[in-house]
Amino acid sequence: MEIIIADTYEGMSELAATMIERQLLRKPNSVLGLATGSTPIGTYQALVRKYKEEGLDFSKIVTFNLDEYLDLSPSHDQSYHYFMDQHLFNKINVEPRNIHVPYGHAEDVEQFCSWYEEEIRQAGGVDIQLLGIGGDGHIAFNEPGSSLGSRTRLKTLTKQTIDDNARFFTNPEDVPRFAITMGVGTILEAREIIMVANGKKKAEIVAEAIEGPITAQVSASALQMHPEVTVILDAEAGSRLKRADYYKWIFEEKKRLIPRLIGKVT
Ligand code: GLP
Repeated sequence: MEIIIADTYEGMSELAATMIERQLLRKPNSVLGLATGSTPIGTYQALVRKYKEEGLDFSKIVTFNLDEYLDLSPSHDQSYHYFMDQHLFNKINVEPRNIHVPYGHAEDVEQFCSWYEEEIRQAGGVDIQLLGIGGDGHIAFNEPGSSLGSRTRLKTLTKQTIDDNARFFTNPEDVPRFAITMGVGTILEAREIIMVANGKKKAEIVAEAIEGPITAQVSASALQMHPEVTVILDAEAGSRLKRADYYKWIFEEKKRLIPRLIGKVT
């Protein structure tokens, strides 16, 4: 696991976008795993800028989103479909037929979840997965207690997640209680994973996930088992890490020794 502590949210976002850009330059038909939440918005803005100003091509990509609220239609302004359209899909040249976001109105949820897993397999698996982290340590909507081998399924949200997400809804009672989410096991099958986190509010849980024990109580801690994970933080989110100096030192050494790995994000 590589931990990079950027000074700012913008630095964090630029670095994550540059890693995705590199993946697309290596393999234009990459399968991208995408996340919602406020954290990756800056990453999407940086990708849109790369598309508009540098001609980064998204025409061959295939995307799979992590999750979606149950019973919110794709046109609901708090659905993750809507979020992705607003922040990324409507602003780049991705083919609509290559976009996959779990469907919150699926009639047979179990069947839908198996179909989603199969679609990921048929696409050749996720090449690079972008993740945020919830206040209770969840990735996607894998709330505490989610099996580290779990697959795409319906999850009941915790009170903390419902409260955290209430800020986006006009009426707190409207926050959905259930979501369709990729499982921890599904996420761990991605070839490469980038997790982004920013702000003081995430500092404690980020430290638990990275430096604490691997436990189903903090589903992000399962990333410790994955061989290709980069965690990109801003200074506040990285402020509770015991080994922060070591992570910074590694990053500086890498910049010095292998400038090509870091590219323009110096
Ligand atoms: C939701 C999403 C997660 C996301 C989390 C954090 O729960 N399902 O994928 O990581 O929110 O959101 P934020 O980035 O707004 O803190």
